[in-house]
Amino acid sequence: MRPWSRSEDERAALAALEKAQRAHARDETVADLEAAGIQLDPDRTGSHRHGDVVHQHDHPHPHVQSGVGERPAIGIIGAGAVGTALGVALQRAGWPIAAVASRDAGRRERFARLVPGARVFAEAAALVDEAELIILCVPDDALPVVARELRLYSGQALIHTSGALGAEVLQPAMAAGTQVGAFHPLVAFADLERAVAALAGAAVAIEGDDQLAALLAGMAESLGAVPVRLLPGTKAAYHAAAMLSAGGFVALLDAIAELGRVAGLDEAGSLAIYGRLIEQTLGNARALGVAAALTGPMTRGDVGTLSAHLRALRAHAPGALGLYRAAGLREVALAEERGVLAPEPASVMRRLLASDL
Ligand SMILES: NC(=O)c1ccc[n+]([C@@H]2O[C@H](COP(=O)([O-])OP(=O)(O)OC[C@H]3O[C@@H](n4cnc5c(N)ncnc54)[C@H](OP(=O)(O)O)[C@@H]3O)[C@@H](O)[C@H]2O)c1
Repeated sequence: MRPWSRSEDERAALAALEKAQRAHARDETVADLEAAGIQLDPDRTGSHRHGDVVHQHDHPHPHVQSGVGERPAIGIIGAGAVGTALGVALQRAGWPIAAVASRDAGRRERFARLVPGARVFAEAAALVDEAELIILCVPDDALPVVARELRLYSGQALIHTSGALGAEVLQPAMAAGTQVGAFHPLVAFADLERAVAALAGAAVAIEGDDQLAALLAGMAESLGAVPVRLLPGTKAAYHAAAMLSAGGFVALLDAIAELGRVAGLDEAGSLAIYGRLIEQTLGNARALGVAAALTGPMTRGDVGTLSAHLRALRAHAPGALGLYRAAGLREVALAEERGVLAPEPASVMRRLLASDL
């Protein structure tokens, strides 16, 4: 971000200089192309509207700038699950959501309805003139692609919301005086209002230099979230843990429901009865620690029970075998570490769990 202490005069001078440099570079390029007989944009009129959507042809003016001490104008690229929920949550927390860019008309219309006042764009590049802080909420694989399409102005910051990738993936969009960062909320964005509510109390992993990080930390706190900074180079591990906590846990629930069906329970029934056990186990882990929360056959060396489980799984729920085995091996290791499982039953259990893999 720009230094917030920079005076209005300095910023106006810088903006004018940038504008002149860009215009010069653009005019030179256009002149070269026209000299070669190539007409770039026959209908070159700056921006135009199709319905509520603004289509932009070039960068005729520098980006918007907030006053000293004001919150920066925010632009959101990608009106998917995260982009829309963040737009709603940030606006409710008093952040100015200036614009959104989404290629999909339905998502644009929904965003405009949920976040009144935001301008809507079909192209990501067109949004750059409207915002100081641009939040890229596109799938991880699309981040470098979209970053290459953007040209930031000095004083702007571009951040993404990925938990797996570092901020360096945004480097292609950078120019002198720009910053990149990340703002990853540890929330499962399955439903808009549930996600907005879940932001309160959730961790948000922040990346960026000190000035940008301070702004992003303030943004997280204004949502009631808890900003965290990770050790350098650890984002993939942090995100793998998040995946196990959300998607991995859903996979476990799915396997539990599959076994519940064998016993005659429907999904709601399984969630009701095993859900209580899950909550109790989580409560025990919080109160006593993870290792101490382990219960079940592995803590007793109960080889007969383990064999019966494996037989039942092979016969009735083979789809759940892989998860059961992986979890079982981890439980054996935990029980041994805790000193409640002797080496002999531990090795028998390992053999049983590894068989037929
Ligand atoms: N879902 C979660 O629970 C969660 C949690 C934390 C962080 N995140 C992170 O947040 C980011 C967005 O995830 P999401 O769940 O919001 O994804 P999503 O619901 O699939 O939305 C992605 C948005 O990006 C746009 N988009 C898709 N491909 C694109 C491309 N090639 N170029 C430009 N735009 C493209 C989509 O289309 P339109 O342009 O047509 O709108 C859509 O609006 C990801 O980095 C993800 O890792 C997700």
